Amino acid sequence: MKTTISVIKADVGSVAGHYKPHSEMLNYARKKLADAEGTGLIYSGYVTHCGDDIVLVMTHGRGENDPEVHLLAWTTFREITEKVAKKYKLYGAGQDLLSDAFSGNVRGLGPGVAELEFNERGSDPVIVFAADKTEPGAWNIPLYRIFASPDNTAGLVIDPKLHEGFRFDVLDLIESQSVLIKTPEEVYDLIALIGTPGRYAISKIFRASDNEPAAAASTSRLSLIAGRYVGKDDPVMIVRAQAGFPAVGEVISAFAVPPIVSGWMRGSHRGPLMPVSFRKGQNVVSFFDGPPRVTAMGWQISNGRLVGVDGIEPADLFEDPFWDHVRQKAAEIAVYLRSMGEFEPARLGHEEMEYTTLPLILEKLKPRFRPVKEGVREEKVAK
Ligand code: F6R
Ligand code: MG
Ligand code: MG
Repeated sequence: MKTTISVIKADVGSVAGHYKPHSEMLNYARKKLADAEGTGLIYSGYVTHCGDDIVLVMTHGRGENDPEVHLLAWTTFREITEKVAKKYKLYGAGQDLLSDAFSGNVRGLGPGVAELEFNERGSDPVIVFAADKTEPGAWNIPLYRIFASPDNTAGLVIDPKLHEGFRFDVLDLIESQSVLIKTPEEVYDLIALIGTPGRYAISKIFRASDNEPAAAASTSRLSLIAGRYVGKDDPVMIVRAQAGFPAVGEVISAFAVPPIVSGWMRGSHRGPLMPVSFRKGQNVVSFFDGPPRVTAMGWQISNGRLVGVDGIEPADLFEDPFWDHVRQKAAEIAVYLRSMGEFEPARLGHEEMEYTTLPLILEKLKPRFRPVKEGVREEKVAK
């Protein structure tokens, strides 16, 4: 049977600035998804948050980009905004809902979407990742490590089912075009593109031997939709694991050396992507509105439903004490980068800062600039 996992997320307001959503918002969403289970629209629904973003994880049999499932997510976010976030004057109420023009799909309207439809295997482990204070390109290094690097994923070398490699669908976020790249043959081409994570992001990955879907990631960039800074895109992704895909342990290994990603304070800085436990309440941001962080939820898909460790409660894959060491490392990198203050590369490069409030500051200085002719500086002291 074919099952679809739809992960749709949005920041529609939070408490204490950008800390975390109010529990009434999460409970409201839980009720909406439970009702949708009742009508049979979805098979199962799980609601959580990563930092200030509410994440809806839904399984159903309706395929990707289903208008009814997207409408469910859209109305859930809209109602939470109106009935809870605005009522309590939460910070950034409705922040990620950039347009009212819903016409069957939430893509392009603000919320982030990752969806994967596949034929359920005899046993189908799936991991859903959610990140806060960063952008879709933050998945580039982990996805490269998981599906293309033999140094991370032993199975690429020693498991015949993985040995043929994977196809990466790479999206050019600026030109709105995409290209399929096959690894291992084209691994250098892949890195040539995804080494620029602000522009190129991986949207899907397929197993090369049979085109079986392996992973999907959200790729929306809010600033490119809105033309200005409206909060970071805070991406989600779905990865299938085991028996012909990378093992769960190989998948999460990709986060053991924190990549430096864009986002963090005011969406304007680079910082380490810190893997955190949601069960221990580490899925909130603090130091300098960060550092950027990622949670990993593990489920089995069983007859279309999400099965976790206790009912639908997922396995918390970054809970193990091993990850304390990684978190420590990420904290050290974070403090080190902050020691640079507002100097690049701790602050994002000029191009990416165009969408922030920095141009307003630079604008004020414009009248004070004087032309420099033939290398001779004209000294003009304003009186
Ligand atoms: C990052 C983020 C925060 C805010 C920051 C300033 O995605 O949302 O770091 O940018 O807290 O917010 P304002 O300008 O609303 O005071
Ligand atoms: Mg926010
Ligand atoms: Mg967020």
